Amino acid sequence: MTAKDFNDRMLSLGLARVSEAAAHASARLIGRGDEKAADQAAVNAMREQLNLLDIKGVVVIGEGERDEAPMLFIGEEVGSGDGPEVDIALDPLEGTTLTAKDMPNALTVIAMAPRGTLLHAPDVYMDKLAIGPGYGPDVVSLDMGPAERVHALAKARGVSAEDITVCILERPRHEEMIAEVRGTGAAIRLITDGDVAGVIHCAEPEITGIDMYMGSGGAPEGVLAAAALKCMGGQIWGRLLFRNDDERGRAANAGITDLNRIYSRDEMVTADVIFAATGVTNGSILRGVRRAPAFIETETILMRSKTGSVRRMIYRNPIR
Ligand code: FBP
Repeated sequence: MTAKDFNDRMLSLGLARVSEAAAHASARLIGRGDEKAADQAAVNAMREQLNLLDIKGVVVIGEGERDEAPMLFIGEEVGSGDGPEVDIALDPLEGTTLTAKDMPNALTVIAMAPRGTLLHAPDVYMDKLAIGPGYGPDVVSLDMGPAERVHALAKARGVSAEDITVCILERPRHEEMIAEVRGTGAAIRLITDGDVAGVIHCAEPEITGIDMYMGSGGAPEGVLAAAALKCMGGQIWGRLLFRNDDERGRAANAGITDLNRIYSRDEMVTADVIFAATGVTNGSILRGVRRAPAFIETETILMRSKTGSVRRMIYRNPIR
């Protein structure tokens, strides 16, 4: 293996440092009611750490288009330029409002994969459906209605619909979906934000209590969630949703021609990927940042799809 190969094993620790740095930076802004400042702190720290890595990276999922995001915009080149050519998908602060209001499950998130292997999802909505590991290939699908999905998953698990818990973003656009799922007798965990965490919950149902995620949210978050499930096991499907010509134009710019396509997990992330997320606020997947007089401590989940390895790392950084 040469220095130009995608040595996911060696690169992964660097990726953890990047997500840790973003969490440290946004920690001071937890509960301060300022989404923008929390996001900006995470962006600055993530970019600084990312540029220390020996990679020739391009941001494919980032803070937005070049004209609307001064840093970590889509297409920005990151890293020292000396190393493997990689795609980077990131969300320096997934759950800006959760952070500003000190609510659970805000994360910093980053994924890295060989160049050309992560879907360049435009900043539009995506209809998402995710389940955990251990199911056959087409147990549920985006073409099924919400109730049909619940019944199909219950059948595959050999339980009744009442034993299924679905996670959904609480939004007016999901009212009908919520009513239909409730009609089956299934339980619903409503979340106010943060659907990357929502999807990841499906990968560890015995810990989180979530069997299935459904509903629309950001397309970039869909690709990040697909990267996480590729490492942990579990399936996700996504279909881009367009509200106007501007959004269709964004898809065209990203090279997407089939606007109705349903992407599977492995079509969003076509090769081996590494994924890191650090807890900002406490949550069911990761503990949030802890601040003590002498140190600051974070918990990071670091995963590689090649091996399916999932590490949880506590990092204590002395305050000097
Ligand atoms: P931010 O961190 O950018 O605030 O995004 C949070 C989030 O809840 C995502 O997890 C989700 O995909 C998206 O916003 C949902 O969008 P909307 O709030 O427009 O429904």
